[in-house]
Amino acid sequence: MRVLIVNGPNLDILGKREPEVYGTTTLWDIENKLKVKFPNAKLEFVQSNNEGAIIDALHKAMDGSIDGVVLNPGAFTHYSYAIRDAVAALKVPVIELHLSNVHAREEFRRLSVIAPVCKGVIAGFGARGYELAVEYFLQQG
Ligand code: DQA
Repeated sequence: MRVLIVNGPNLDILGKREPEVYGTTTLWDIENKLKVKFPNAKLEFVQSNNEGAIIDALHKAMDGSIDGVVLNPGAFTHYSYAIRDAVAALKVPVIELHLSNVHAREEFRRLSVIAPVCKGVIAGFGARGYELAVEYFLQQG
């Protein structure tokens, strides 16, 4: 099972960024924990603050080398039709993921333009959400 885990803008500063909302765990901690927890999965990690780089990473998943994608688009969730179109073009399932419960926050976070073209959404479980997403893919494989 080969899973691509893509994190969007401001997720590189996890741990320092609004810890009361996102916790103190860094993205590096999350990625390492996943590698330890799922030694038999082939996990690939991409983080970018740029919309185009996220789209390029998703395009790479079209070459047959990836079985599933976990995508935390950050704030792009709420308005990036370009990322939505890239997700819609994929044949492999994509899980949209949010650390925070976006439905319990500001009104603008309740809308995801990407979720309608995803297999499902995980939100509000913090770093544990990434594990749940990878577990889902492993159970499919
Ligand atoms: C987020 C939620 C988004 O609304 C926000 O812009 C983020 C992080 C989350 O993981 O909870 O950057 O995707």
